[in-house]
Amino acid sequence: MTIEDFILKTIQANVTTGSVSWQSPSNIALVKYWGKYGEQLPKNTSISFTLSNCHTKTKLHYTPSNTHKFEFEVYLDGQRAESFEPKILKFFERIEVYMPFLKQFKFRIETGNSFPHSSGIASSASGMSALALCLMSLERLTNSDITDEYFYAKASFLARLGSGSACRSIQGPLVVWGEHPVLPGSSQLIGTTLPFEIHDNFKDYCDTILLVDQGEKVVSSTVGHDLMHNHPFAEQRFNQANQNFEAILEVLKTGDFDKFISIVESEALSLHAMMMTSEPYFLLMKPNTLSIIHKIWEFRRETSSKICFTLDAGANVHVLYPNAEKEEVSRFIENELAVFCENGKYIHDVVGIGAKVLL
Ligand code: PMV
Repeated sequence: MTIEDFILKTIQANVTTGSVSWQSPSNIALVKYWGKYGEQLPKNTSISFTLSNCHTKTKLHYTPSNTHKFEFEVYLDGQRAESFEPKILKFFERIEVYMPFLKQFKFRIETGNSFPHSSGIASSASGMSALALCLMSLERLTNSDITDEYFYAKASFLARLGSGSACRSIQGPLVVWGEHPVLPGSSQLIGTTLPFEIHDNFKDYCDTILLVDQGEKVVSSTVGHDLMHNHPFAEQRFNQANQNFEAILEVLKTGDFDKFISIVESEALSLHAMMMTSEPYFLLMKPNTLSIIHKIWEFRRETSSKICFTLDAGANVHVLYPNAEKEEVSRFIENELAVFCENGKYIHDVVGIGAKVLL
């Protein structure tokens, strides 16, 4: 699909007042996206597990308007959230060319996350995905010919323009973003699901998110991505990620846990190594992040567990493990890792199949 394909050309029906609602999941990257160009295009291919329990629910109320301006209000958990509005305005401005009807409505956007607002878990992926899906439901009311394939592709395309990794939060259980020669159909513009059956070892994979630091990040992802321009190791990093992507595709077919662990942990540490070697350099890990990593390595050495960790752009640790180890690992987390979490907090999650419409 090309950018042109996502421009709405025909409006067939008049839409009056109403509302649509979607629930979208968060995702955790196994091979990381860090560095972009153009209009939210990735410098390397990434792949993520779609989550289930960490999600955003968004209800979009629309009513016709003829002010020829963007008109909307955002509510978080029932309270007006004006601080979110500049980001949504920027998003609307960016996607207007693909959805020329936006100024014909006044919107009320009601949103809420299943995870605590200040948990350090980014809500941009699930939030932008849910909003993009609501807008696609509205687009479908103007044009009922839209196929499901186009609906989800364009939702991913729009979500990407809100927050890059949000394009991987539409479907599941594994979503690829970024064109790669070994995977026909992969795209710079949208997230795509894998065209093959994944090995049973990776079905129902678990992710327990250890909330190490629930504060605001010292450096935002936007700034972090920007620092990859002129970064001394940028090209090596993009090559490494593309190679890791190719390798993990094989692992997802063969079920090789050890190779999975080495790719996933190396990706997490490489991401943070990029931060530490940016100009200016910065650190998002906290002492407790490192204590948890060492504990996980010790546990793996002492048991036959296939537990491993990954990190996103923050101090929290995602503990990944096969569903078959759930009991044993949950005990380990409660007894040995919870002590490193802020207020002992963590969230159990599991790989999911993607967003769902709410009635
Ligand atoms: O989508 P953004 O711009 O918030 O960037 C997300 C980057 C990482 O979470 C660190 C990695 C990824 O691929 O999700």
